[in-house]
Amino acid sequence: TIELKTLLGSTGMTTLDPGFGNTASCSSKITYIDGAAGILRYRGYSIEDLAVNSNFLEVAYLVIYGELPEPAQLKEFSDKLRDNADIPAEMSAFIDAMPRNGHPMSLMASAVNTLAAYYDDSVDPSDDAQVELATIRLMAKLPTIAARIYRNSIGEAPIGPDDSLGYVDNFIRMTFGDNAASGELGDLFSKAVDMLLILHADHELNCSTATVRVVGSSQADIFASVASGINALSGPSHGGANQAVLEMLEEIRDSGISIDDFLERVKAREVRLMGFGHRVYKNFDPRSKEIKVLASQILDRDENPDELFELALKLEAAALEDSYFTERKLYPNVDFYTGVIYRTMGFPTNMFTVLFAIGRLPGWVAHYREQLHDPAFRIARPRQHYIGSGERRYPGQG
Ligand code: ACO
Repeated sequence: TIELKTLLGSTGMTTLDPGFGNTASCSSKITYIDGAAGILRYRGYSIEDLAVNSNFLEVAYLVIYGELPEPAQLKEFSDKLRDNADIPAEMSAFIDAMPRNGHPMSLMASAVNTLAAYYDDSVDPSDDAQVELATIRLMAKLPTIAARIYRNSIGEAPIGPDDSLGYVDNFIRMTFGDNAASGELGDLFSKAVDMLLILHADHELNCSTATVRVVGSSQADIFASVASGINALSGPSHGGANQAVLEMLEEIRDSGISIDDFLERVKAREVRLMGFGHRVYKNFDPRSKEIKVLASQILDRDENPDELFELALKLEAAALEDSYFTERKLYPNVDFYTGVIYRTMGFPTNMFTVLFAIGRLPGWVAHYREQLHDPAFRIARPRQHYIGSGERRYPGQG
């Protein structure tokens, strides 16, 4: 358990709260979470409702602007994204010059950071019109950047955006080109990616969103703030967990270790059960419920069950019968089943967290924008509890 301490320092009362487990740093109207009841709502709408009835662009609009769009507003938003999907030739050359075997999250954060250099007419946080322009540019260009990084990594020619396709289908085409699944399977994959992006769209003050706010609180531009969010997301304790889950499942399969023996290793603290546990959800993660259903729809389609999905199901069942996990309220989180779905669609493991970032972008942008208009807005500057040495004399100074 994390200890919350109140300390009396030279400048008054300070709370020591490692990992900010009990500290709210802002008020927000974007996302509501009840971790005990497993409730997640964007702008008041439950994610279960949105996942079934909405689509990613509509949800992105809702998260960023606060209301579901009217049809004309959605069309205008979608048209703007389509018109801004290309990236400048110099930026393409910059992406092409980056190490092809570098992790896509690292390359994507670098590329997003440079958007400020290509678009210096949208970097002023005090100008709402500039922030809006940057919002459109980020939303429009992130899939193009991500797909180019992927094509480079497999040594294939990049594919530019196609005006005739919607946001998700365009991303799938820029990624897989003619190898994209077609027909009924293509439709199913497209719907699945759309739903996964919806389920990732925001999650209040998670590590990457908190990072975007902290960086933005210094009046840094939105591109720099979002690039920082991408970096925060990349870690295996956060968005990088979707990649880590798949690697864990492959390791279990390839090593031949039994599920019981693997869980013993977890309990001995040799490894973590990736995709399990959450700072806020202490009952279940509502996103993981939806994603498990989606995984069943996609992976139980033919007679050959997906072996990693089967393994994940068995691992979950075994963990949920084990008091180590139930006593600590450790349940599958959003990342537990996403990897097996992405893998079936043909995404390589190191692209999983990139998909998370594309989904989370509306949330990062919404928080950056909300913060700018918060009457309580001021630079984020936590305090510390100093436990180092007292005053010392420099050697030889008496
Ligand atoms: N496997 C094994 N034990 C775990 C796990 C896990 N995945 N997660 C937590 N625990 C244990 C801890 O060892 C601790 O036990 P103790 O009280 O006996 O010392 C207890 O549960 C509480 O864990 P904390 O680390 O204090 O929980 P915290 O809220 O700080 O961490 C986190 C949350 C980072 C998500 C953690 O559960 C974890 O590492 N999970 C695996 C990585 C993962 O799936 N991350 C994705 C999270 S969702 C997202 O960011 C998109």
